[in-house]
Amino acid sequence: MLVLRSTRDLLSWRGSLPRGTEIGFVPTMGALHAGHSSLLSQARAQNDIVVLSIFVNPTQFNQAADFEKYPQTWESDLKVAEAAGVDVVFSPSITTELYPEGYRFEVREKEFSKSLCGAFRPGHFEGVLTVVMKLLNLVQADQAYFGEKDYQQFSLIRDMARDFFIATKIIPCETIREKNGLALSSRNMRLSPEGREKASALYRNLISAISVSDGIRDLQRLGFEVEYFEEKQGRRFVAAWIEGVRLIDNVVAPVFVEKSHETQGEVTL
Ligand code: PAJ
Repeated sequence: MLVLRSTRDLLSWRGSLPRGTEIGFVPTMGALHAGHSSLLSQARAQNDIVVLSIFVNPTQFNQAADFEKYPQTWESDLKVAEAAGVDVVFSPSITTELYPEGYRFEVREKEFSKSLCGAFRPGHFEGVLTVVMKLLNLVQADQAYFGEKDYQQFSLIRDMARDFFIATKIIPCETIREKNGLALSSRNMRLSPEGREKASALYRNLISAISVSDGIRDLQRLGFEVEYFEEKQGRRFVAAWIEGVRLIDNVVAPVFVEKSHETQGEVTL
């Protein structure tokens, strides 16, 4: 497994690949867990070469403290990457590799990025879209893989790639969960064992609440501070705080029907 620490090395490696080599790319911020591994396995199964990037992107953190305390688990990340069959790890050694001194450009989306997470984290999606655009341009992959766990992020990246004629195909990957339903996230490490159990109510609630207002009420009763709970684009999205940790999740919006109108594929009460 090759570890590249500069854009120069990445570009020269990329230029040396024979034409027609199929490349799968998984961008991450490290602290790798089974959710990331599932993206890597999908990339492994569908490509000749798998590139993983590890870069804690400062521009997508709207609070400096969050950036400072982002978990750094380099050694174990390399083991996860090896086990998943990664060929190249691209991890810029300094921020200026991706953001030149006094950088002036960013990617901005005007609508969807202002809702849900974007409404509570100003500038977040500008940071995400900008770094993903840079990474996609550098790696020039055939396919890039993103988790549905961050569905708003996936949807914005898919649309950005389409609108800017980026040749890389943006592929969604299903959310990997703990047995109790809690979506895997590097933030779960900050929860106590009881907090982790409580946090699993987020998913149960998303799939079972009859209405948005019921969902919010039930989560509040369980001790969550709900940031948003909304249905958009046929999905149900939630962000809520528990034990000082902000968790997000989403599912396809459930459809509830009366027993007498039972239809295959719908949730029946
Ligand atoms: P990060 O949080 O490290 O996530 C990297 C990728 O892993 C994202 O596509 C995310 O959706 C996916 N992922 C995380 N948890 C998952 C889970 N439980 N199941 C399935 N996929 C999961 O998202 C980012 O980094 C950054 O914003 C990035 C796109 C790298 C830009 O900096």
